[in-house]
Amino acid sequence: MGLFGKKHLDTETMENGAKLITLANPQSVISEQFRNIRTNINFMNVDKEVKTLAFTSAMASAGKSTVSANVAITMAQAGKKTVLIDADLRRPTLHSTFNTTNSNGLTTLLTSRGKDVDAASVIRESGVENLSILTAGPIPPNPSELLSSKHMLDLIADLKQKYDMVILDLAPILDAAETQQLTSALDGTILVVRQGYSQKAAVKRAVELLKLTKSPILGYVMNDVDADGDGGYGYGYGYGYGYGYGYGEEDTKKKGLFGRKK
Ligand SMILES: Nc1ncnc2c1ncn2[C@@H]1O[C@H](COP(=O)(O)OP(=O)(O)OP(=O)(O)O)[C@@H](O)[C@H]1O
Ligand SMILES: [Mg+2]
Repeated sequence: MGLFGKKHLDTETMENGAKLITLANPQSVISEQFRNIRTNINFMNVDKEVKTLAFTSAMASAGKSTVSANVAITMAQAGKKTVLIDADLRRPTLHSTFNTTNSNGLTTLLTSRGKDVDAASVIRESGVENLSILTAGPIPPNPSELLSSKHMLDLIADLKQKYDMVILDLAPILDAAETQQLTSALDGTILVVRQGYSQKAAVKRAVELLKLTKSPILGYVMNDVDADGDGGYGYGYGYGYGYGYGYGEEDTKKKGLFGRKK
């Protein structure tokens, strides 16, 4: 029980990194589910190729860092030159996930205006072929301002030229003003919803805020779908289409959920 009688914020990923099942066990059912998510993202390329993509959630601990890292790995495994950016400056995890330092990173680039710091010198190899990482960097007192800066938009535009896929792990949209603004500059956003954890009203509000942006919601990753009710890590990553997936809106009828645990 947390200090305030509510579920406390989970710090596991921040301390020990996200679990990279797609690397540890590529043949597992869950890795297959992540590949399904990748395929679905690729299928969204109807009007315009998705090259810049963000994962966000309504509130903390929905699974953004776990999902974004594993989806980035499956993209890289499919031969796409991918860069994964830790843009959740409140709860950064990427350096822990890939066992590297966070002494410089995204914030280094964003605060180095005019000092000629090259993105290539801060972006690191992840150890996974085709996957580069940009860790969060030292955490500033004003994360929203930094991420909302023109510098950030320029960086995304620059990386889009250099990589096939730019993936951002963003702070929860209800907690971070910059998330809504940043998604407007991207080709699409995926909302991570954690079964039995994310509150309906919060998800609905997150969807409303995302709809106000210029970037489409490409889908929903339903995390922790636990068909057996037995809990535990990594059960069921489903992918849904349509606004308000699973949350009582009209078009939920169009939903598609697959990749459930056998
Ligand atoms: N499918 C799952 N089953 C069980 N545990 C999970 C699952 N997905 C994520 N977790 C756990 O939940 C916690 C939060 O996951 P993660 O850090 O990926 O979420 P997040 O949305 O990035 O959180 P934050 O808002 O803190 O950045 C971690 O301890 C992670 O291991
Ligand atoms: Mg996270």
